[in-house]
Amino acid sequence: MGSDDENDKNGDVSKKPKLNPSPITEAEIESEFSHHDPNIARLNNGAFGCCPSSVLTAQRQFHLNFLRQPDHFYFNHLKNGILHSRTIIKQLVNAQHVDEISIVDNASTATAIVLQQATWAFHEGKFNKGDSVVMLHYAYGSVKKAIEAYVSRAGGRVIEVPLPFPVTSEDEIIREFRHALEKGKSENGSNNNKVRLAVIDHVTSMPSVVIPVKELVKICREEGVDQVFVDAAHAIGCTTRVDMQEIGADFYTSNLHKWFFCPPSVAFLYARKSVNSVDLHHLVVSHEYGNGLAVESSWIGNRDYSAQLVVPKVMEFVNRFEGGIEGIKKRNHDSVVEMGEMLVEAWGTHLGTPHHMSASMVMVGLPPCLGIMNDCDALNLRTHLRDFFGIEVPMYFREPRDGEIGCVTGYARISHQVYNKIDDYYKFRDAINQLVSGAFTCALLSTST
Ligand SMILES: Cc1ncc(COP(=O)(O)O)c(C=O)c1O
Repeated sequence: MGSDDENDKNGDVSKKPKLNPSPITEAEIESEFSHHDPNIARLNNGAFGCCPSSVLTAQRQFHLNFLRQPDHFYFNHLKNGILHSRTIIKQLVNAQHVDEISIVDNASTATAIVLQQATWAFHEGKFNKGDSVVMLHYAYGSVKKAIEAYVSRAGGRVIEVPLPFPVTSEDEIIREFRHALEKGKSENGSNNNKVRLAVIDHVTSMPSVVIPVKELVKICREEGVDQVFVDAAHAIGCTTRVDMQEIGADFYTSNLHKWFFCPPSVAFLYARKSVNSVDLHHLVVSHEYGNGLAVESSWIGNRDYSAQLVVPKVMEFVNRFEGGIEGIKKRNHDSVVEMGEMLVEAWGTHLGTPHHMSASMVMVGLPPCLGIMNDCDALNLRTHLRDFFGIEVPMYFREPRDGEIGCVTGYARISHQVYNKIDDYYKFRDAINQLVSGAFTCALLSTST
């Protein structure tokens, strides 16, 4: 047997992450993210995440090891390496069994895997035409499209749960959810129709709100919803209580490349053992078809699997921070709330959620005088801030309710990740202040394009 160094060279990731790594310093954090453009205030970790250079180096090593001797890598390392990553995730999310954890490319793939199962259930007559899927109004756009592609097309109905924004309490969300389920049932007209699947976000994307998933899953159980899928694309590394047994959903997916420092792109899909049946399959069928989703997913044909293998290296990275990933999450949450409060005070506006309903992202009200009147204005302002001020920050347009005048119609979603500095947020504050004092309105952008 070779030495540890030799094992590293050959891509053996079954070694345990190093214990007691040296605590990371500010200078080392800067160096880990020195590939970021220094001219940009990067307030949008939520969209694309980030990957430190030590993890990118490890990924490249896996890639090279594969290219160096593909047969050896394939037969002796790949499966074990993916299993090691799955085992770490299983522990992180408190799943009962490692077979409940599959590694896939991203949350979109995980969503399609779950929805494909529903499509087949319609085709095979297990679900009846008119059976429904419930989703939140703030479900991610591409998830809504996937529901249309897989469920509506197969004859299923879609019930959308309206959600208030700004939101002041979890009760408002729980109330709307109950109401939508009842409405769905009473609109059925037929006793044979059922709600087959609820798709619930853990942290909605836009506007960003932490959803009381555990409570909504419980309501689904009480109301006889067949299965619950939690779209938690942002959750791991971003919000607390990512605990499969506590949440109790049938399916749960989270990207690892958003808030968990993996390179693009990798996600996990949890499928509770009791539902992890022969019906659940990867969309790409290859040699492992029929061997369970986790094994199917670990070989979907020739491709680069290196992003899936770096999870142990990511654990080494996060364990260099005080409190590991839990410590990172807490500090990101505290900092993003503090920065959000600083911005709303400067602009005389408000946050879109109470502090405890935000994770590592916060919705910050923008001054009404900017004149954000529609989605297009929000997008134009975002582009303007990138092009003229070097600020990356997504914007959300919120339609005024009847009779509302002079209210906040635009919110910026700011993120905080370990690489962020207070100056990033000051840059954003000052840019908006400059626009306001120059009598800028979004109408100027729409006329100039
Ligand atoms: C709530 C939610 N679901 C799903 C996705 C899709 O993630 P991906 O593009 O990595 O598949 C996103 C991406 O931002 C998201 O925010």
